Amino acid sequence: MNTKTASGAILTVKRLTKVYGTAVPVRALDEVDLSVEAGEIVAVMGPSGSGKSTLLNMLGALDRPTSGCVMIEGNDLDGVRDLDAFRALTLGFVFQMHNLIPTLTAAENVQVPMKGRGARRRRQHERAMEMLELVGLVERAGHLPSQLSGGQRQRVAIARALVNEPRVILADEPTGNLDSVSGREVIELLVRLNRDRGTTILIVTHDRNVARSAQRILQMNDGRIVHEHIVGDALTEDLLALAQSELGRRIIAQDVDALAGLPLVSDGRLTRMGAELSALLRSLTDETRE
Ligand SMILES: Nc1ncnc2c1ncn2[C@@H]1O[C@H](COP(=O)(O)OP(=O)(O)O)[C@@H](O)[C@H]1O
Ligand SMILES: [Mg+2]
Repeated sequence: MNTKTASGAILTVKRLTKVYGTAVPVRALDEVDLSVEAGEIVAVMGPSGSGKSTLLNMLGALDRPTSGCVMIEGNDLDGVRDLDAFRALTLGFVFQMHNLIPTLTAAENVQVPMKGRGARRRRQHERAMEMLELVGLVERAGHLPSQLSGGQRQRVAIARALVNEPRVILADEPTGNLDSVSGREVIELLVRLNRDRGTTILIVTHDRNVARSAQRILQMNDGRIVHEHIVGDALTEDLLALAQSELGRRIIAQDVDALAGLPLVSDGRLTRMGAELSALLRSLTDETRE
């Protein structure tokens, strides 16, 4: 599916394909087209194995596509000479597993992406403290990851992702391991960054409420973007509300009794509409049905 192709795009993906393995090839991404505007928050949903992490890894130049291209701020990643430097300056990563270095303090972890950038040690420390202040953790600067809660560790990881002021943040299930309160804090922080600094954010999530913080929700399946929902759009809002209701859950499960309860003509058409509605609702959840 083609998502909007605008000229103000900070990130553009064309026919991006990734095939893993050779003996039994897996098409993790199948000719994906995507365009993200500067300052957008885009949520990526979809069942496990649908290619969400692969997409983020390609966008972040953490791995190379089989074919197709990724352009960030007009640079085709294929033509970027020093990918490490480009990545460090342009992109911030937040993963489900925070990946903090256990033997470094919070402040030292935040400084890691600044290494090799020539900044003075003292300046690096000051900058790390600014970032920790931003995420509300200045008083924990000297703590090791093991001395922090899950939510605090993830906030340190966000501070680290931000330290070079990237224009784009790629977040892969950043709240996946957090309780709902910490998860909300992390999302609020990302939304605030987006609002105050115009940081463009791509966030993979299984949580519909998290996805609602975005302007768009992309639903992936089998390596493709199969649906795009605009948050705030009347249909999307209705679908989100229905998906959360008992009736919605039953329709998603293709519960025939629930479908029969809908005020629709009970013939082949009903089944067809029910199946279409069910597919739409499922595209806002991560529930799969074979
Ligand atoms: N390094 C890899 N080698 C082989 N197959 C992989 C690799 N990474 C991912 N895959 C496969 O690619 C598909 C998409 O995976 P992934 O992008 O991790 O999905 P998601 O993040 O949506 O759960 C899956 O079938 C997965 O098994
Ligand atoms: Mg994943």
